[in-house]
Amino acid sequence: MRILSGIQPSGKLHLGNYFGALRQFVDLQEKGESLYFIADLHALTSLRDAAELRARSLDVALDYLAFGLDPKRAILFRQSDVPLVTELYWILGSVTPMGLLERGTSYRDKIENGASADFGLFAYPVLMAADILLYRSDIVPVGKDQKQHLEFARDIATKFNQTYVPGYDPADPEGKEKGHTPGILKLPEPLTLDSTAVVPGVDGRKMSKSYANTIDLFAEDRPLEKRIMGIVTDSTPVEAPKDPSTNTIFKLLELFLTPEKQAEVADSFRKGGTGYGTYKKRLLLEFHAHFDAARHRRAELVKDPAAVEAVLRDGAARATALAEPMMQAIRKACGLR
Ligand code: ADP
Ligand code: TRP
Repeated sequence: MRILSGIQPSGKLHLGNYFGALRQFVDLQEKGESLYFIADLHALTSLRDAAELRARSLDVALDYLAFGLDPKRAILFRQSDVPLVTELYWILGSVTPMGLLERGTSYRDKIENGASADFGLFAYPVLMAADILLYRSDIVPVGKDQKQHLEFARDIATKFNQTYVPGYDPADPEGKEKGHTPGILKLPEPLTLDSTAVVPGVDGRKMSKSYANTIDLFAEDRPLEKRIMGIVTDSTPVEAPKDPSTNTIFKLLELFLTPEKQAEVADSFRKGGTGYGTYKKRLLLEFHAHFDAARHRRAELVKDPAAVEAVLRDGAARATALAEPMMQAIRKACGLR
């Protein structure tokens, strides 16, 4: 089983990235051959400062390592270090219907939130499909907001196979039945955990860099405390019962708790008598208990950027070795060789 995912180095990692994606990366590296990359080409669609992009890319590498992604098990690399992906991106773009991209919700959301309407942003899902398909990925762990991109990757793979693989039947993509040919491109499956599908930010909306409502995993102690104590709440008095199901603090707190502890805290919300400040302090404690080991590890790793660079270089070589034969088959199928 091959597992692949990436994170854009477009800002600091936050709780949403951890519970939505990164935590699964760590769990999954035990379960199969995994590839995790830093999506720096994708970040060009939103980050236009060279020094900043370089710094953020190194940050994501440090974050991966701090959380225990192990370069001996997983292939860790920078997307742009395997330029084959941009070749595949063009080939796929040539069979991608405009109508498919026009259905993309992420493009529309980003424009509505002030992003400029550039071609790269519009074509973003095609590059993401290339990432996934180049490495014949079986499983792609992502947050819920990325599910549509996974559907696009499947649609684009199907379109390519239908176009270039004689005997390909989309109803039988693996070509199991007699007379059918398996596709060159493998249809990937998304993997999202429903329990943490959307992590709310400090203002109650989806936590996202673009909304400036994040709780960053590696923020320094003081700003972190301020951030958590500043979570927006309503004016329910201390004594009054509170509804945990609509409460941002509860939704964040439960991410750290076992089901039994979740039930206890939910009861205490419903009973009343405890103020939001108390729950925020609890959240801060849980945050430290959960992340301090990674925070310390990161503080050590940051002292040796050359070692991190070496991990990425080795990762790129291993990723290229996997991608090369795939790319050759693709070129041949469409007549480029
Ligand atoms: P952002 O929205 O902050 O720009 P990204 O789009 O870079 O975050 O997301 C990186 C990964 O983290 C993706 O797999 C995404 O689904 C996941 N993710 C981001 N925000 C959240 C969230 N609030 N809840 C759950 N998962 C999230
Ligand atoms: N679009 C993803 C995000 O914003 C990042 C990404 C790029 C990705 N290519 C990918 C994720 C391939 C999974 C697989 O989070």
